[in-house]
Amino acid sequence: MARFIITIDGPAASGKSTVARLVAAKLGATFLDTGAMYRAATLAAMLDGADLTDQKRILDVLDDTVFEFDATPDGMLVQIDGVDATAQIRDPKVTANARYVACLAPARQRLVDMQRRFAEAYGKVVTEGRDQGTVAFPDADVKFYLTADLNERARRRQAELKTKGVIQTDDEIRQAILKRDQSDENRAVGPLKPANDAVIVDTTDLTIDEVVEKLVDCVNTRRSK
Ligand code: DC
Repeated sequence: MARFIITIDGPAASGKSTVARLVAAKLGATFLDTGAMYRAATLAAMLDGADLTDQKRILDVLDDTVFEFDATPDGMLVQIDGVDATAQIRDPKVTANARYVACLAPARQRLVDMQRRFAEAYGKVVTEGRDQGTVAFPDADVKFYLTADLNERARRRQAELKTKGVIQTDDEIRQAILKRDQSDENRAVGPLKPANDAVIVDTTDLTIDEVVEKLVDCVNTRRSK
């Protein structure tokens, strides 16, 4: 299989990004973090001072901004109009505001087009997000859907924020995750849901290495058939 696309979808803090990055490395593929695209679009609108409920303004910002997404072994480097925004897109304010872009159908279409161009350019891609197996790449070679219970996801998010020096209480984190789940699951376009042919993996009691091994085994089994 010369070119292939593996999709990994799932809710916030289910471990998708870390797992997708490691699975990509093991398979000699490029990792695409589509959440970074929604975050970059959101940050660009915030930097522009846009009212995030003004849909036309958000689309104008998307059309007027140069976004660059570069795959590196450590993750995706993000540039907005030539300025590195890799760390800034992880700010909790950007996280909370991402739903405005995520709910806007024409914005999603632009980002899905970007994702398909990225896959076209790199050929072997492990992509993660919410709608990768359902909307962006319905013909993907293997599709996964990762889940984990809320407490475990909150614990993982807390650990991640701590490494970045961001202070939030456990309750704030839990509430933010719940709000994002609701917004992700209930939007009309590209809602969070498993593709009919996705392999569902509950990661609550698994280490990252165990999840990676499970996914890589599954991909290799499919590829050897
Ligand atoms: O995975 P993440 O936390 O980096 O995602 C950031 C936001 O982008 C989140 O609110 C959901 C949204 N998103 C989306 O709607 N579709 C995707 N394919 C990826 C992310």
